[in-house]
Amino acid sequence: MKKQVKNNVSWVGFIDWELESFHGDDYSIMNGSSQNAYLIEEEKTVLIDTVWKPHDDFFVENLKREIDLKKIDYIVVNHGEVDHAGALAALLAEIPGTPIYCTANAVKSLTGQYHHPEWNFNVVKTGDSLDIGNGKQLVFVEMKMLHWPDSMATYMTGDNILFSNDAFGQHFAVEELFNDKADACLLEKEAMKYYANILNPFSPLVKKKLEEIIALNLPIDIIAPSHGVIWREDPLQIVLKYAAWCEDYQEDQITIVYDTMWEGTTQIAYRLAAELSALAPATRVKTFNISKADKNEIMTEVFKSKAIAVGSPTVGNDVLSSVSGWLHFLKALKFKGKKAAAFGTYGWSGEGVKNLQGYLRDAGFEVIDASVRVNWNPTEENLAEVKGMAEGLI
Ligand code: FEO
Repeated sequence: MKKQVKNNVSWVGFIDWELESFHGDDYSIMNGSSQNAYLIEEEKTVLIDTVWKPHDDFFVENLKREIDLKKIDYIVVNHGEVDHAGALAALLAEIPGTPIYCTANAVKSLTGQYHHPEWNFNVVKTGDSLDIGNGKQLVFVEMKMLHWPDSMATYMTGDNILFSNDAFGQHFAVEELFNDKADACLLEKEAMKYYANILNPFSPLVKKKLEEIIALNLPIDIIAPSHGVIWREDPLQIVLKYAAWCEDYQEDQITIVYDTMWEGTTQIAYRLAAELSALAPATRVKTFNISKADKNEIMTEVFKSKAIAVGSPTVGNDVLSSVSGWLHFLKALKFKGKKAAAFGTYGWSGEGVKNLQGYLRDAGFEVIDASVRVNWNPTEENLAEVKGMAEGLI
């Protein structure tokens, strides 16, 4: 069922309350998600984006109940990824030849994924516009690498709606659609998790793009992303959050991440948390076992942190695979301006801590000299060394 966004603009997407993961298993979904598509019914009828392929039949049938599909004059594809363009093939089987407006890179990504070179592509670039009647226009803004080369946003004059696609989105299901109807704490948490886990590597581009959008001086009444809530109440709040998040964001928080075999490394982690809290009572300290906590939730905590400490026992001349896999992900997210320390236990060869320091340096962290490396299980004397590492992190 379509839901009104403003005047002749409606939401026609899919709210997915059952989704558990995204991008394969690379992004955990805790509070549902949505794929937001929009229908504009001015003198011209325009569809902005579609939904994920598993829901393509649902999407097309739903759209048929709302409108004669032949009335659709234009389809705007802001992004070719399958969660937004996945229903195009089913839709275009009903209305072949309908003009698609997208970036040059989207022609490549759409053709590469869906193998329909005959689709009626119309390439647009930043500043191009499309007249939709009733004095309103769609203005296109390329959003290259936010987060794919093909990404684009579409601005609707008259109603002042920015269809921002993935930017400003969240994996968060809200039946009532709007930010003023959502649980505010969950909304902020999910918006930050989305930024930390998907957009953080592109922070310098986010900064440039925000400056470009602000310089356009467009009135923005609504920001309508392709996932999660539509920002209707104080829509610029999410723009201001992005402006802060793209500048090597940190709060007064230190996060400890570790895994263990026989609890020796756990003892160091717990002692470190206690020492940090005693030394810096104002600092928020959080501790996670990487095998027991969600990796994306931990990344959001790293995003908020000014420093992290990572621990693992030495195993097979290196560290536990749970920790090395997580560090690989950490490196890809390109955090900057954060301190890090390493700790762990060992039985014989003992390379783990040195390797951890190397991995953290490679991931862009400022690794402090102090570390804690304990042979077999820690004694009280070993644990007393933890204070020095804590002092280096605060
Ligand atoms: Fe929501 Fe990049 O797709």
